[in-house]
Amino acid sequence: MTVSHPILYLTRHFPSSIETALADLGEVLHPPEWRPPTADDLLGGLAGADVVVCTVADRFTPHMLRQVPRQARLLASFGVGVDHIPLAVAEEVGLAVSNTPGVLTEATADLTMALILATLRRLGEGERLVRAGQWTGWEPTQLLGRDVSGRVLGIVGLGRIGTAVARRASCGFGMRVQYANPRPVPPESLSGFEATPCPLDELLQTSDIVSLHCPATPETYHLLDRTRLQQMAPGSILINAARGSIVDERALAEALRTGPLAGAGLDVFEHEPEVPDALRQLDQVVLLPHLGSATVETRVAMGEAVLANIRAFLQGDRLPHLVAHRPPSLS
Ligand code: DGY
Repeated sequence: MTVSHPILYLTRHFPSSIETALADLGEVLHPPEWRPPTADDLLGGLAGADVVVCTVADRFTPHMLRQVPRQARLLASFGVGVDHIPLAVAEEVGLAVSNTPGVLTEATADLTMALILATLRRLGEGERLVRAGQWTGWEPTQLLGRDVSGRVLGIVGLGRIGTAVARRASCGFGMRVQYANPRPVPPESLSGFEATPCPLDELLQTSDIVSLHCPATPETYHLLDRTRLQQMAPGSILINAARGSIVDERALAEALRTGPLAGAGLDVFEHEPEVPDALRQLDQVVLLPHLGSATVETRVAMGEAVLANIRAFLQGDRLPHLVAHRPPSLS
């Protein structure tokens, strides 16, 4: 089935070339004055548009997807993670969901390396010192961090992004890489760099740096809970550029205050944009506002992937990145 003269609801501004291309496809609606969408705005989009173009920051509840009448038949998400959409309910009500995998792998891996470097080398503290006008000059013992090369990096989740981080760490920074993955990793994914498999609990105990790269699912909710955080090696650091819900943030703040953790680099939080005070108060934590894929090139590529999904949907073709779809039942 094809859709002519579609209505597209954009929850946010996208790169201008992408917005122009979206406007070429049909009529574009958006939240009033482009404010960050409220739940009512999202409901309005579902009720009045054929396609809702959404982001990780737009959280849909089962109740919202079950709303009737609903005109939307595609939720085209601008991003790879789809934990903001209840996929089983989308399938149940016949709402297709698409995402943009692959195109943000390198940017997110780069950002992960930036977090590793910033945390180990205390860049946040240094930047704050200079900005505050409190730097009194070079000192042999000022803001000493730790060498990156030779450190053991434990990667939790060796998917696309975890693999890209492993490659950078092993080939570019001379780190020793180990990984925990729920399924065996095909040998071709490991070509060109060294990484050894390791059970999760052992990885936590034996890594200098643990970097999370698993998706947010019910199975990974608080995967790093108090017990696991307390198992981590004394003086180690935790990096999270995946999803905030994978870590118990209260237990993380405790592990940073009283050990065993020496630092953390966080790009994601459980209840964004809320960042717990307990983390903001700690100098040894580098905090970023979910910048993993935030480069011009990557955001345009994500937009191109969204467009490809929407074009296929409108022409009745198979979507290149379909996450969920089951036609609504006829009963
Ligand atoms: C994603 O794509 O899931 C990121 O978190 C947003 O870039």
